[in-house]
Amino acid sequence: MSSCWTIVDQQEQVVSRELAHDAWPWLEVDWRRTPTDDGLYLEWTEGGLALKSTDLDARSSVRVDFCEGPQARRLKAVTGEALTRAVGCQKGLRPSVCDATAGLGGDASVLANVGCQVMAIERSDIVAALLADGLRRASLQAFDWCERMELMHADATHYLARLTHGVVYLDPMFEKERKAQPGLAMQLLHQLPTSETSADRLFFAAIESQAARVVVKRPLKAPPLGGREPASQIRGKAIRFDLYPRRKLTAEDMEPIRFGGLA
Ligand SMILES: C[S@@+](CC[C@H](N)C(=O)[O-])C[C@H]1O[C@@H](n2cnc3c(N)ncnc32)[C@H](O)[C@@H]1O
Repeated sequence: MSSCWTIVDQQEQVVSRELAHDAWPWLEVDWRRTPTDDGLYLEWTEGGLALKSTDLDARSSVRVDFCEGPQARRLKAVTGEALTRAVGCQKGLRPSVCDATAGLGGDASVLANVGCQVMAIERSDIVAALLADGLRRASLQAFDWCERMELMHADATHYLARLTHGVVYLDPMFEKERKAQPGLAMQLLHQLPTSETSADRLFFAAIESQAARVVVKRPLKAPPLGGREPASQIRGKAIRFDLYPRRKLTAEDMEPIRFGGLA
């Protein structure tokens, strides 16, 4: 779903506004010096793009940061995360992954960091812009994993039928079943408009694709997506990965993901 977003740019960085348009050309933008009163807005500073809300504490914001903070530490620490085992990483094999629910790129960057080629697809214009901005800043620091990660702003359901190889990874938004108050980032993300494509529809598009394997991240106690039992699971403390292998992974599955010459 696309809409016009307010971006607050207090310093009126006209040159970097052009850079912003290049980084997320899909985002329709109304540049302003101060926020309006109606909820969500973006802020553009030298530190990058951040999502904020007039309804929440002014200090709360969502910004993708691969260079410092928790995700940077996750990237530095990564060795044998369950996620990498779930997609089939093993000695000499780093399958290419189509992350069809890229979100803020947490999982996609881990996979690129261990050597997988990753096609990250995100349907929300705003989430995709935040991720594109995080990737832009990470690539300025010359992290080599950035070169293995491509981002598309699209509804992945429309692309999976064109997939020829590799692994599809799905991490759909968990239903609002959580009893605990979610963190500020989650509160902001839950306020975003969403489109109607259901997780089950995306799952069946993945299962019917030519991917060698489909991997789904689920809350530990949630039913399997589409009501289809996985062949096996990797279980953690709060989440699990449901594995749907379709054939053995081969060297061909390490080739970058392309959609019939489109991406
Ligand atoms: C729980 S988040 C993914 C989090 C991500 N794994 C991470 O580590 O940051 C789910 C994301 O999937 C996106 N999404 C849901 N359905 C989609 C679809 N059909 N195509 C592309 N993105 C989709 C949502 O917009 C949301 O940003």
